[in-house]
Amino acid sequence: MVKIAPITESLPAFLAAHSFSQIAVVVDEHTKAHCYPLIQSLLPAHTLIEITSGESEKTLDSASLIWEKLTEAAFDRHGLVINLGGGVIGDMGGFCAATYKRGLYFIQIPTTLLSQVDASVGGKLGIDFHGLKNHIGVFRVPDAVLIDAVFLKTLPWRELRSGYAEVIKHCLIADASKWEEIRQKNWQEQDWTDLITHSVAIKENVTTQDPTEKGLRKILNFGHTLGHAIETYFLDDSDQRLLHGEALQSE
Ligand SMILES: NC(=O)c1ccc[n+]([C@@H]2O[C@H](COP(=O)([O-])OP(=O)(O)OC[C@H]3O[C@@H](n4cnc5c(N)ncnc54)[C@H](O)[C@@H]3O)[C@@H](O)[C@H]2O)c1
Ligand SMILES: [Zn+2]
Repeated sequence: MVKIAPITESLPAFLAAHSFSQIAVVVDEHTKAHCYPLIQSLLPAHTLIEITSGESEKTLDSASLIWEKLTEAAFDRHGLVINLGGGVIGDMGGFCAATYKRGLYFIQIPTTLLSQVDASVGGKLGIDFHGLKNHIGVFRVPDAVLIDAVFLKTLPWRELRSGYAEVIKHCLIADASKWEEIRQKNWQEQDWTDLITHSVAIKENVTTQDPTEKGLRKILNFGHTLGHAIETYFLDDSDQRLLHGEALQSE
């Protein structure tokens, strides 16, 4: 279930409709500073699990830390993990929740544009391994995805622009008229809630028809062949490192 609504409404409604033995919130230092204050008071007592931000931390070591904290807090299978962050936290926190004791409940609260329009939808979860991206993981659809554009207010503009590349991709593969509409405006002046709603509908439609990427889902890789090559080329160069969406825009 993907809900695009103010988090002050969607999160309390989700919690009221369920009963969990415990709750953990997974954050990185940026989402702890900027996003956690927006939800902290909406939650009952919970465990906060902080991971260092960045793709380089999407590792087995970070996953171990999450599993350790859940174990220390004696989570049983009726616990809930809330992943509050971008695609790194969502993919990794989701993977940890899906595998801890064969699966806890988990929800995604994506806080970057890229994770709101792409990573949080479709149930792909995982971590990088020995430098191989998303090498270890599972498919599991979260119990809810709660999206609120309010989180984008603190997102650095490069991250916002990177996510915008995926918005354009969704228009190009499925809705040419939307592309004509959005290209009339400067990318910074877009109505984010409208664009997120549009992108999520396209991604949900594709991923529900082909959840495990046997065929149709591959369309979501549109623009990614050269994009991934460009991204990988600059990976080892910390001065010129490109964000995912920046590499796509170069294609
Ligand atoms: N599961 C999928 O289907 C899927 C699809 C696309 C991408 N991904 C994955 O998503 C990851 C990339 O996600 P991303 O672009 O969100 O990167 P990210 O999670 O690294 O977030 C980018 C940066 O923004 C910071 N941040 C997040 N929210 C913020 C906010 N509201 N205010 C200020 N700072 C904030 C983070 O701390 C981080 O430094 C990759 O690991 C990729 O593999 C997964
Ligand atoms: Zn992409």
